[in-house]
Amino acid sequence: MLKKSIEDALNKQLNAELYSSYLYLSMAAHCETIPMKGFAKWLRIQADEERAHGMKFFDYIIEAGGTVKLTKIDAPKTEWKSVGEVFDQVYEHEKKVTAMIHGLMDLAIKEKDYATINFLGWFVKEQVEEEANASEIQAQIKMMGDIVGHLFWLDHELGKRE
Ligand SMILES: [Fe+2]
Ligand SMILES: [Fe+2]
Repeated sequence: MLKKSIEDALNKQLNAELYSSYLYLSMAAHCETIPMKGFAKWLRIQADEERAHGMKFFDYIIEAGGTVKLTKIDAPKTEWKSVGEVFDQVYEHEKKVTAMIHGLMDLAIKEKDYATINFLGWFVKEQVEEEANASEIQAQIKMMGDIVGHLFWLDHELGKRE
């Protein structure tokens, strides 16, 4: 059985993961219209991954005897000045999510909820990867500056994501 404080925090993170999915989907839509189809594809796949993260919380809450409570998902922004600005925000957002996961881990430790600590371990590791991917793409965009040809090369590379 989950403690109420843990159940509430897990439901909040479920919402945050679905918001991440929504945010990246909005970024994907923006990149489709620029058009930067490779960036769009990368973000579309990232949106799917975030939904899968949300479903991990969904399944864990149920398995641990809690109740899933879906709440309103905030509307993400819809326009960005450049793909550079998009990926600045991806990286900033992932750092924010990492802090949320760490806060959740702090709570699970405080409540001595060993099953939840174990469950969250996967997310702690996943966030290292998420930040690394986002910061790498951000750095590549910065390096290429405004050289359109180079940016199209990166767009082509990111479009290879499966
Ligand atoms: Fe996530
Ligand atoms: Fe993420």
